[in-house]
Amino acid sequence: MQYDFETSPTRKEEGSLKWKQMYSWNENIPDDVVPLSVADMEFLNPPEITEGLSEFAKKVVYGYTGPTMEYSEAVKSWMKNKHDFDIESDWIVNTSGVVTGFFTAVRAYTNVGDGVIIMTPVYYPFYNAVEKTGRKLVKNPLLNNNDYYEIDFENLDKLCQKEENKLIIFCSPHNPIGRVWKKEELEKLAEIAIRNNMIIVSDEIHNDIIMKGYKHTVLQTLSEKIADRTITCTAPSKTFNLAGLACSNIIIKNEMLREKYVKATQEVGSSIINIFGYEGCRLAYTKCEKWLEELLKVIEINRDLVVKFFEEKYPKITANPIEGTYLQWVNFKALGMDKDSLEKFMHEKAFFITDEGYIFGEEGDGYERINLAVPTKKLEICLNYLDNALKEIY
Ligand SMILES: Cc1ncc(COP(=O)(O)O)c(C=O)c1O
Repeated sequence: MQYDFETSPTRKEEGSLKWKQMYSWNENIPDDVVPLSVADMEFLNPPEITEGLSEFAKKVVYGYTGPTMEYSEAVKSWMKNKHDFDIESDWIVNTSGVVTGFFTAVRAYTNVGDGVIIMTPVYYPFYNAVEKTGRKLVKNPLLNNNDYYEIDFENLDKLCQKEENKLIIFCSPHNPIGRVWKKEELEKLAEIAIRNNMIIVSDEIHNDIIMKGYKHTVLQTLSEKIADRTITCTAPSKTFNLAGLACSNIIIKNEMLREKYVKATQEVGSSIINIFGYEGCRLAYTKCEKWLEELLKVIEINRDLVVKFFEEKYPKITANPIEGTYLQWVNFKALGMDKDSLEKFMHEKAFFITDEGYIFGEEGDGYERINLAVPTKKLEICLNYLDNALKEIY
């Protein structure tokens, strides 16, 4: 490996939200434990970004700043080369995050009381984007066949036929269950959306983190018709661990939808994003492809380690290997604990600090989401603590 994926940075004093949360759950967590919860990474930054931003910091004036041509070209090339996704610079609308991006879409394209469909269990801010904006949450739960999840197209079609339901927030690849949707599945989704005049917000923030043997398809590349009604949310933040730089690229081809979107950002006084966000994104998309290649290898090693750990030691606890994202979904129902007891066991006995499945919706009760983006040695240490606690009760 050219890059260092073994050093575990100490983020305890850096204001890391994930670390603060860990100590708020249990202040006596052993010093060698790292949190495996919130989706950012316990790796050093790609050096090209650290060095590039240092140079940039010395030379630019920090005034009001928008995207440069080099930045837009970097986003365009990345989308084209990685995803066969042809975009124009003016399709890109910047937001500080993808969460802000889909909240804005909900406000832009629906009215208070309108129905917004989400496929559960799913990334918990999807619920907030609907409920906190006064829209109606309409759930289309994923079909769960032994922890292999699929879209319930029949139910989706029924829901989309209802006049009051206007928008779908779709997660692709899907957090927390780790599916990379097949092209055929996306085609069915697109057909239903087009026939029922739905708008789709396709959150593709995890679209670069794809395991070997799987292929991500950008929903809006399927046809002109679906591109015309899709808002594609992308960012370098998951791929290169840049969430703190706060720069996301919301890609909207349809001019009318784009205008409405921009208007919705203006209505809340949202203006520019951080000057370092644009540059971080440009550096990531032009200089860090090799870093990403190596990262994916580490994620695969860690995924296999976790899957094997349960298979060999605790076969009733099941982990279906993820296809994409760096978040492994694990079924702990065999322990027979309710969600509060499972959480208490993880935090207080096992020191295994993951995201609890229930935060992604009731379908997630009894599951844990393990963040695999940590040095393998650290993951082994965390699994060892879990092992010691499980031995007593399994
Ligand atoms: C599906 C999904 N969307 C959005 C986000 C967060 O986006 P941002 O930090 O850009 O708001 C995450 C973070 O884990 C995510 O998993």
